[in-house]
Amino acid sequence: MAPQVKVLPSGRKFFVEGRESILDAGLRAGLNLPYGCANGNCGNCLARLVSGGLKKIRHYDFHVSEAEKTQGYFLTCSHAPLTDIEIEVKLTSSPGEIPAQDIIGKIKKIEPLSDQVMALQVRLARADKLQFLAGQRVVLGGNDALPEIELSIASCPCNAVNLAFHVPLLPEEPFSEQLFAGAIKIGQPLRIRGPKGQFVLFEDLVDVPSPKRRNDEFTLPPLLFLSWHTGFAPVRSLIEHALSFETETPLYLYRLSPTPDDIYLDNLCRSWQDVFDHFYYHPLPYRYTLMSSRKEADAIIEEIAARHENLADFNVYVAGPEPLVESAAAIFPAAGVPAGGLKTEIVCLGFCDERTPL
Ligand code: FES
Repeated sequence: MAPQVKVLPSGRKFFVEGRESILDAGLRAGLNLPYGCANGNCGNCLARLVSGGLKKIRHYDFHVSEAEKTQGYFLTCSHAPLTDIEIEVKLTSSPGEIPAQDIIGKIKKIEPLSDQVMALQVRLARADKLQFLAGQRVVLGGNDALPEIELSIASCPCNAVNLAFHVPLLPEEPFSEQLFAGAIKIGQPLRIRGPKGQFVLFEDLVDVPSPKRRNDEFTLPPLLFLSWHTGFAPVRSLIEHALSFETETPLYLYRLSPTPDDIYLDNLCRSWQDVFDHFYYHPLPYRYTLMSSRKEADAIIEEIAARHENLADFNVYVAGPEPLVESAAAIFPAAGVPAGGLKTEIVCLGFCDERTPL
């Protein structure tokens, strides 16, 4: 049986298969382990062994002093467990802990998700993993005459080499226009700068020991997500990360779209609901809306809030246009969502509004 790693103080656990490093296995399991180079040069992945045995799996140049070694410090990118182990390391839980990065990837896939949304997948070289938190954005393009666009990453940080984006059809937005016109091609290099933004899971879900955790196991408050159109991109990243936590806390997803037939990746959401007993999917195609007025947004938020009795226990994440975000900020707290229990992101259509979170 593969050895298990327990991470303190969070109590999160994961298995390490074969010759995988503790870092790679932890990232794959959805833990925000700190790292930089991922190959033994920077020392950012330093952790402390509390119990169990380790084996070195690669040569590394970073100098771990004898005093540090005596205290149990080691590099997670360069070691694997010999036995079940406990390690102490602070997980990355806030955007300020992540360095700015500027890397080049390659476009691996372009695929329409609907008439209005194109999926773009970018692959990085293995040595160039992008560090980010679920829900964050990056600036794409700006190299080889490619125009720039700022987009939320639609994939989970557990795969830091393959990045997904949902590009909306935006007349007069050069990147979107070129992509939908077929002028941006598979195999083309693409510059990626970031990450940016604060629309990430609350810190105490990720690392800080919480009174909500029972018997040393990792538990979450119920999570409610609401997205409009390509606001589903950061929400998808958050949900995939939250699902990797392997808790049974309820996750509710509500989706809105600007046209009745544009709840793209509807099947993905339905498959989450089929696979996870604690995942509840509510597409609201009958409430499709351009979301241009507060009145319209208020009615939708009130309708969703009325479906839940104990919003005081919830964390709520809303990604949509300004009226929806303003309504959420006014109505959810009045319906019981605790102060600091709501995060919002104004849907990014080109370059994003930095006013989030409210
Ligand atoms: S991540 Fe750089 S030394 Fe481990």
